[in-house]
Amino acid sequence: MARHLITSALPYINGIKHLGNMVGSMLPADVYSRYLRQRGHEVLYICATDEHGTPAELAAKEQGLPVDEFCAQAHDAQKAVYDGFALAFDYFGRSSSEQNVEITQHFARRLNENGFIEERAIRQVYSPTDGRFLPDRYVEGTCPHCGYDKARGDQCENCTRVLDPTDLINPRSAISGSTDLEVRETKHLFLLQSKLQHEVEEWVAAHEEEWPQLAASIARKWLNEGLHDRAITRDLDWGVPVPSDTWPDLAAEGKVFYVWFDAPIEYIGATKEWSDLDPENRDWKSWWYDVDTDVRYTEFMAKDNVPFHTVMFPATELGVREPWKKVDYVKAFNWLTYYGGKFSTSQKRGVFTDQALDILPADYWRYFLIANAPESDDSSFTWEHFTATVNKDLADTLGNFVNRVLSFSKKRFGEEVPAGGEPGEAEAKLGEEIARLLAEYESQMEALQFRKAAAALRALWSAGNSYLEEKAPWLEIKTDKDGAALTLRTAMNLIHLYAVVSEPFIPATSAAMRQAFALKDDTATWITADEARTLTALTPGIPFTVPPVLFAKLTDEDLETYKERFGGGPTA
Ligand code: 2FM
Ligand code: ZN
Repeated sequence: MARHLITSALPYINGIKHLGNMVGSMLPADVYSRYLRQRGHEVLYICATDEHGTPAELAAKEQGLPVDEFCAQAHDAQKAVYDGFALAFDYFGRSSSEQNVEITQHFARRLNENGFIEERAIRQVYSPTDGRFLPDRYVEGTCPHCGYDKARGDQCENCTRVLDPTDLINPRSAISGSTDLEVRETKHLFLLQSKLQHEVEEWVAAHEEEWPQLAASIARKWLNEGLHDRAITRDLDWGVPVPSDTWPDLAAEGKVFYVWFDAPIEYIGATKEWSDLDPENRDWKSWWYDVDTDVRYTEFMAKDNVPFHTVMFPATELGVREPWKKVDYVKAFNWLTYYGGKFSTSQKRGVFTDQALDILPADYWRYFLIANAPESDDSSFTWEHFTATVNKDLADTLGNFVNRVLSFSKKRFGEEVPAGGEPGEAEAKLGEEIARLLAEYESQMEALQFRKAAAALRALWSAGNSYLEEKAPWLEIKTDKDGAALTLRTAMNLIHLYAVVSEPFIPATSAAMRQAFALKDDTATWITADEARTLTALTPGIPFTVPPVLFAKLTDEDLETYKERFGGGPTA
């Protein structure tokens, strides 16, 4: 029994996310959280929308909405999709919450008291046409590194390099398109990360061995390049205000914190949002403050987020000089591509999470995505691969097994787990195999190796099919009725086992399997090695029903329809 704090990178408020975002953060975090809860651990899975910054302001402008209204609507729209995917967050918050404002301002004050914040005058792009400074994405232009002509002021989408708006060649305003831009001086707060370099290095050194290679190597690369002091405020209307008690001048000018300063703090903020809803029973600080070894904290994110989580946020937390919980394990993902090309929100290429749910229920996506998660390398989504996987693993191997066993047993023995027959050699062999595969599944889950865990789960399903083929109860029944009853009862025990252990991947289907037997809906009771070996937990006489087909087989026609709707490959 441990206390597990789990967070997935906060999805940016702007736009519904695509499948690549889902598989690189929220979905594996949910699978892991569900697994740990089933194993009896205390789990807190926190996520939120990341709402500040220029993209939110620009999107709100485009829709003609005040930015707070835009964010409230967009938050609800995202939350609805995540509910559809059955993401069992303990809380899904909003980085614009008052809790986050309060904690972010507190962090800034403490960093300042500890000598890690400095006011500096900087030269910033100003647009007389728009009558304002143009931070980050408010400026577009040509990337000085790769020549991409739609690079944004904060980052080049093409080569992923982090930029400053003044780096851009041929800059133009993203609001008005004006190229009449000038550079003016203005004051901003700088986080003196360079002063924290050593401490961050020591902290990373103490943790990186345990991290997956992808996370550790990215952290190292950033540390080797050296931590630079960074402006943590912006000239925007929408953001956490710079507190006027500490910086009256900057507050009067309406400066707000930069979105990447307050976003990770929202992991804490959202926990407080959760706790404030029921303060008597929920203690946010017991998850975050002075809990170094009491809580194990695992973060999920795609690789572009790793520098912020392994280096910059830890630098902030260290500089605050208070015992805030820092991450223990960083699970980072590569990219899911769409036919080898980029999923792109801005270019609307690939499959978006809301569209996915329009087509098929969440379990189809959850299983496919995790079984093909871009863990050690990028992986490619194709409709061919998706339909083949659904048909083979979900429809044939799992769904068909469940239906075949229960329909046949109902037909020959009625609607109760049949009696008769004693387990023999085939059952002993099956039990050993199931116990071995279950142990493999558990150890891969514990190691957060999701593809390997999916492979072990699939092997558990397959073992049932092999057993059924070998025993062939539809033939057996002709000569040995008790033997057929034993085979079906053992197969039903496998269904029960599948219902429990498949839950992290396919929770709705697992519930349907559990409901087939009149058992109490208790997902938190895991299968013991002994139960796996004996496969006798479901005893004769327990009533069952035959559930509707668990997974529909996808046809060639379906495949063609999907390809036509979404495009069979990346466009130029
Ligand atoms: O990359 C992104 O989409 C960011 N919104 C992730 C933020 S994660 C955390 F630090 F808030
Ligand atoms: Zn570039």
